[in-house]
Amino acid sequence: MRTRILIPVERIADRVEAMADDIAKAVAPDTTAIIAMTGGFVFGADLLRALSRRACRFRCDIMQLQSYGGGLVSAGRPQITLVPQSPLVDADVLFIDDILDTGRSFKAALDHFAAQGARSVRTAVLLDKPSRRLEAVDADFIGFEIPDLFVIGYGLDLDRRYRELPDIHVVEGE
Ligand code: IMP
Ligand code: MG
Repeated sequence: MRTRILIPVERIADRVEAMADDIAKAVAPDTTAIIAMTGGFVFGADLLRALSRRACRFRCDIMQLQSYGGGLVSAGRPQITLVPQSPLVDADVLFIDDILDTGRSFKAALDHFAAQGARSVRTAVLLDKPSRRLEAVDADFIGFEIPDLFVIGYGLDLDRRYRELPDIHVVEGE
């Protein structure tokens, strides 16, 4: 498979620090940070540690959303396959995901938090592909806006591979 680097690791690291500056000023004390699995685990780990260096403390939880069936195109019906174990009644939530694409899984997560009685929800995504949006949702904190390209690395996968790559790459073909 041919790929090219779209966002190198150093730029990602700088951007995560800048996002942490903004998020640290905005989150409530005792926020529940919820990382969207699986793609959000690398960004989530880096972001929460950057926030920790800014004296933010969290309850940390995960939730799993699945929409891609293993290919390049979203399968459409996102499913919540693992719900956060923390009680969300009156919780201030910081939802962390790798990429906002059609917005369907993002919306499923927001609907879940609302149904569970969350008091407030802030959202952080590393990447945003606004041209692909099918749901009227937006993130509060965005790392990079990118065009309609399929990307891998830094948590993002193609059929469960490449999540471990330090840089973000664009898939260019066979
Ligand atoms: P949405 O429900 O269409 O917004 O899908 C969002 C989810 O699809 C993300 O959390 C990713 O897991 C996955 N996804 C969307 N675009 C890409 C991509 O370019 N590469 C890898 N995964 C992607
Ligand atoms: Mg995801």
